[in-house]
Formats: sequence, structure tokens, C-alpha cells
Amino acid sequence: MKRITSQKANELTKKYGSPLFVVSAEEMRSNLVTFRDEFIKRYENTEVAYSYKVNSLPGVLKVIHKEGAWAEVASGFEYGLAKNVGMPGGQIVFNGPFKTKDELKRAIDDGAYINVDHFDELTTLEQIATELGRPVDIGIRINTDVGIDQLPDRFGFNLESGEAERAVCRCTENKLLNITGLHIHLTSYILESQSEDDIPARGIKLIWPKGPEAYSSASKQMVNFARTLREEYGVEIEYLDMGGGFPTVDSLGPYAQAITAPILDEYQQSEAPLLILEPGRAIVSSAAQLITTVVAIKELPGGHSAVVADAGINILPTSLFKYQDIECVTEPKGELRDTIIYGPLCLQTDIITRAKLPELKAGDKLRVKNVGSYNIPQSSTFIFEQPAVVMIDEGDVKVLRNREI
Ligand SMILES: Cc1ncc(COP(=O)(O)O)c(C=O)c1O
Repeated sequence: MKRITSQKANELTKKYGSPLFVVSAEEMRSNLVTFRDEFIKRYENTEVAYSYKVNSLPGVLKVIHKEGAWAEVASGFEYGLAKNVGMPGGQIVFNGPFKTKDELKRAIDDGAYINVDHFDELTTLEQIATELGRPVDIGIRINTDVGIDQLPDRFGFNLESGEAERAVCRCTENKLLNITGLHIHLTSYILESQSEDDIPARGIKLIWPKGPEAYSSASKQMVNFARTLREEYGVEIEYLDMGGGFPTVDSLGPYAQAITAPILDEYQQSEAPLLILEPGRAIVSSAAQLITTVVAIKELPGGHSAVVADAGINILPTSLFKYQDIECVTEPKGELRDTIIYGPLCLQTDIITRAKLPELKAGDKLRVKNVGSYNIPQSSTFIFEQPAVVMIDEGDVKVLRNREI
């Protein structure tokens, strides 16, 4: 996203307050188009379903859907958001480990793609199929070792243990559920344990981006499993959903190649399954910046330079496990110093980032770049109210969310 001018930052914060999230509609559109093109030029039968959890402000969703993306939702609540912005069921992918019976019924009625997470969900879906007196179409989420060192993936049915195949057997035997798709998502947040037996995890490590080889392994295993389904169970897969977790769109080529090559090797063009991708971060991360104002300067014992800014970890929760990329809104002048940027919360852990910055004074504006993903929806009203979010679209400024109070 283009650097906002100092004049614009002052003008916007004067009107909408500081801190302020500024979203670029153009950047979201361009990310989506580039993302889709990288796949479509290799594999035509592709749909991109934007992952709602990453940033689900209705104004953001509308821009993304207008550009042709489907919706990937992970709860009944997000499903409702998709319907509210006008998405037809046939363009909604419904994931997640907790979907109620009523939510599943609604999704079935609408013709949404439902990816099942566990055996209890299969039971609920079987009950619905029995009540409807007809089989229901479902996708099966699988998890498998793709070479990333992490604690067990808690989502879906495990491939190596035979759990995924047991789910398939159950569906083909009772004939209540038609398996039409396979789903996998290589998570971006890797749970680290402190020792081998230490579950639950003690730490979160962001592995992003993962290398294309992880996607290549996932794609090959999906294709092999689809072949097992065809040859041993007579089940023809109609869609392969490779989830999200992708890097910025300018480095997507090797990932698109890694995913599509095994599918193209396996299928004739005419029978190629629909390929669904569920990017979140790759579409919205670079499309938002946060303007924040320096409120105080501090010299800490040991000679550390620090500033207090008006944006804290309550509105930038990703600061807890990633370095935020921050710069001065105005061109920096003078010597750059290693500076810790604290937020305004009365809390020792309210540290936004650390960066080389020029000498600052109260009132100076900073911008935190690439904050469009996982911050706004995970923000909390903690000690301070949540700020406004505005979107710039072809020069016009539109309020996506008002400042909380
Ligand atoms: C099922 C599913 N799909 C897609 C995504 C989006 O991931 P990312 O933002 O890393 O692309 C997530 C994120 O957790 C997810 O759980």
C-alpha cells in the first residue's frame, strides 16, 4: 500500500481520530486479481474463497466479493455475515470445528460447500440427511504431515492414522452423506510446546510464509487420497480445497505451481476437479496501515530509546508474536536510533515493535504497515476504545467502522 502523505495522515486523524486504520480498496482488488491469475493461468477451474476470519468488516467483504471472490467462513456467525452481504450459498465454503445443526441445515438448504471437521459433525449431518430423506453432499477436511514441525493439527481427519479413511467408509456404508470434496489448510500459527509431551502449547510461532514444498506435499497427498476414494470406494471428488496460508501475492508463483502440478498430473483437463483456495492474509494484509501518534518520549535505564504511541496491542494483537513494520509518516531526518514502540495501555506487555527511527517528539505520526489481517477482528476494547477504520477508494474516503466512543 502506498505511503500515506503526512498531510493526508493529519487530515484523516483530525477528522476520525488517532489511531486510525486506513484500508486501500485498490490494494485489496489488485491482490485478489493477482492471486487468482497466478492459479488460473495454470489451472482454469479455480475459485478463490476469501477467508472471513482475517478481516470481516462488511465494507472490506463487499469490495472483495465485487471482484468475484467466494466466501470462506468458519462459524454460523460468519456464515450470516456472508449472507448479509448478499453471497449465494453456492459461493460459500463453510469450515470450522463447531457448526450447529440449524446452521448446517441452513447451509445445506443454500447449497453451500460444507467441510466436515470431526465424527460428531458427521453424526449431526447424518441426522439431517435422515430427516430430509435424502443424502447430503459434504467435503472432508484432512490433516497430514507436510514436513512442518508442529504439535498435532487439531482440525479434520488425520490421513496417516487411517482416520480420514474411516470417515469415508462410514459415509459410503450408510449412504447418508455423499463425499464431494476434500479440504486441507496448512495453518500459519504453529503451536510450540516446551517439551515433547507438553500439550497444550506454551508458545505460538508464526510460520509465514511456509515454503511451497509444504503445499506440494499437501497437494500430492490430496490427489492420492482422491484416487483411493475413486478406486476403492467409487467416490469421485468434485472439488479440492487447498485452504489458505499463502504469502504476499508477488511471491505466489511457486506456491501455485506446487499445488496445481500434482492435480494436472492426475486428471485429464475435462475431468479436473474444482480447485478452491482460501487466502486471507495474502489479500488484505498489505491493504491496511495504522496511523498512530507519538504521545511521549522515554529514555529507559540502560540507554534504550522508547516512545509511547496511542495504538496498543489491544488493537494490534498480532504484535504479540510478530515484528510490526513501522515507519515515520514524514520522511525521517537525522540519525536513526533503535527505538522501542510501546502502546498506551497501562500494561508492561504493551509493546508494538522495535525499529530504527529518528529522534521523535510527542505529536509525530507513525504508520504501522501491513496490518490488514488478524488485527481488526481480534481487537478488544481494553483500557482504550477501538479506533475508526476508513477505506480509501479512488480518492474517496469511506468510514468502515466508527471510533467506538
Ligand atoms: C480454514 C482456513 N482457511 C483459510 C485461512 C486463511 O489463512 P491465511 O490468512 O493464512 O491465508 C484460515 C486461517 O486460519 C483457515 O483456518
